[in-house]
Amino acid sequence: MESLSFPVINLEKLNGEERAATMEKIKDACENWGFFELVNHGIPIEELDTLERKTKEHYRKCMEQRFKELVASKALEGVQTEIKDMDWESTFYVRHLPQTNLKCTPDLDDEYRKVMKEFASKLEKLAEELLDLLCENLGLEKGYLKKTFYGSKGPTFGTKVSHYPPCPQPDLIKGLRAHTDADGIILLFQDDKVSGLPASERWAVDIDVPPMRHSIVVNLGDQLEVITNGKYKSVEHRVVAQRDGNGRMSIASFYNPGSDAVIYPAPPLLEPEAEEKKQVYPKFVCEDYMKLYARLKFQAKEPRFEAMKAVETTVNLGPIATA
Ligand SMILES: [Fe+2]
Repeated sequence: MESLSFPVINLEKLNGEERAATMEKIKDACENWGFFELVNHGIPIEELDTLERKTKEHYRKCMEQRFKELVASKALEGVQTEIKDMDWESTFYVRHLPQTNLKCTPDLDDEYRKVMKEFASKLEKLAEELLDLLCENLGLEKGYLKKTFYGSKGPTFGTKVSHYPPCPQPDLIKGLRAHTDADGIILLFQDDKVSGLPASERWAVDIDVPPMRHSIVVNLGDQLEVITNGKYKSVEHRVVAQRDGNGRMSIASFYNPGSDAVIYPAPPLLEPEAEEKKQVYPKFVCEDYMKLYARLKFQAKEPRFEAMKAVETTVNLGPIATA
């Protein structure tokens, strides 16, 4: 079992004599954790502070009452066993790419829109830089992942803004139930509360992401597991609701392949005997996977991969039958 100290990567060290050691640390994090935490990532602290302030203000003004009416009043009514079909969270989503919907996202004031736009454009660059670091560690040519994600209209990129308000019975409902992310690479900015993010069967205990102010937590989604043919894995995680305090803020940005991007294991990463051992991940159009995921998010990922393989087989049979 790997070391239990959560990987923290100081990105500035990529510019100095510790570059090789830092790349090695990123590699280890990708292979053994599926998660790592970035410090000195280049996104200005003032911007993160403004984003946090505006997000919390927006929650109080526009979301809190709705949460109380939609979730808090209903979820726990007369319930004695753990709730499996609902999460104790309040969220909204902003899309940045391929086209932004920031202008028509309701209830955001000008300052919030401005800081969100700035943040998203910096995060997009950071995600692309990270993809190239992954390429380097995987021995893929520079730009391979970005190109794979591009499809015909470019990547899909969006931000899910969440609050996890204090919960009277955190043993009965999760902030967010366990799942792996369907996406490519995910960048998470949260306030400095302890978060019980990863909880995996691979670990006997829950691993907490150390709360570090202004850090960005990165995790890998199912698409990268497929492209690396399982060398890197998407790791299951969840959010545990807290009984006390003001709740927790989390701003998660998802950098994904475009809807028509074709996703499949990168040929250089396929072991020669993978085919015989049936250890090859499926090939699919990203949108098809996302549709399946929407129905099966809170279930294990393996059946999703199997389902995509079954579709692939049917598709491949077409030309043979008509030949
Ligand atoms: Fe997630």
